[in-house]
Amino acid sequence: MSTVEEIIGRTDPNDFEAVLAMTNTDPNEVIHAVEDNADAIYSWDYEKGARPQLSKLYEKAKVGQWNGETDLPWDTDVDQEALAVQEYETTGGAGEIMDLSGTGVELWGRDEWVRFNMESQNWALSQFMHGEQGALVCTAKIVETVPWMDAKYYASTQVVDEARHVEVFAKYLDTKLSDTYPINVHLRMLLDEIIEDSRWDMTYLGMQIMVEGLALAAFGFMYQQSEEPLLKQLLRYVMSDEARHVAFGVLSLKEVYQDMTQAELLERQEFAFEAAVRMRDRFLQQEVWERMGADVKKVIPLAYQDPLRQEFQQLLFTKIVPNCRKLGLLDAGDGWLRKKFGEIGVIQYENWVDTSEEIDAFAITQELEEEQAS
Ligand SMILES: [Fe+2]
Ligand SMILES: [Fe+2]
Repeated sequence: MSTVEEIIGRTDPNDFEAVLAMTNTDPNEVIHAVEDNADAIYSWDYEKGARPQLSKLYEKAKVGQWNGETDLPWDTDVDQEALAVQEYETTGGAGEIMDLSGTGVELWGRDEWVRFNMESQNWALSQFMHGEQGALVCTAKIVETVPWMDAKYYASTQVVDEARHVEVFAKYLDTKLSDTYPINVHLRMLLDEIIEDSRWDMTYLGMQIMVEGLALAAFGFMYQQSEEPLLKQLLRYVMSDEARHVAFGVLSLKEVYQDMTQAELLERQEFAFEAAVRMRDRFLQQEVWERMGADVKKVIPLAYQDPLRQEFQQLLFTKIVPNCRKLGLLDAGDGWLRKKFGEIGVIQYENWVDTSEEIDAFAITQELEEEQAS
């Protein structure tokens, strides 16, 4: 068994000094190369439907396709500043809800918090866009590395889905928002580790279960909060795809994990924990505070205690934890992952519905049919 330090590079997951010591060393980088260490696998077994659930998912994916250019109301006028003001008037600035004295931020007034809200949105959608590219690259890798034909078919539809997601987030940032951010260092580290792993099931665990499980929850949260009709529809459409992607991960790994030894499962548990911590670290939004001129080392440990933020950080795990449970990952061995998820305060979601059970709730079949009819 590895130690926590070996897994995440520090002993205490809440050691913010260590978290903030990691920075993006090359924010102007345009091309980023990662060794993917895997064989491309052909299968000469073409039997379609050998894995009926994956085959069904493939059929759903074919009828669930939408066009990012023509199916979203891009002519919507988006006033980002007005929305940021509205948000400020509803919730106030973090410094007005909690004690941030000694950080410099306590002097901020309405203008600064409104700008902070705008920067937070620029940041959040930029990270979603980068994460979507991670998904694009990971699923292309799954098409190559997975030995099952039904999974290759399905994964190929996901490659198209992810291209569309990158496209619509990039277009929204470019045409509706005021700025973009480079990829967050913790997110990039996680994406690199997922791609570098030679074992095909690890691509699934890192991307389909962890990154996409978190994205599905985060998109849902933003969908509920947002009053902006274009962003709402964009998120609704992206979520309809993401639910399939997470279900693809659950259905595939369920079969793979059945035959694994305890030692092999422990490695998967450790990887899931590492991914959970990296994603939590990324949501500290260190780049936004930096861009706003705040003293990051002082403000982040305090801002992290904000009850609203705590609640949001936990909600991000509402899909991941039940899916890990369904896969048997929480309790494998001596329940190592259950213990770890308890320590980071997210185990309470274990009995929420898993994504393979709720996939149809996200479908946009009706919308697409209506559109075709009109
Ligand atoms: Fe996606
Ligand atoms: Fe996805």
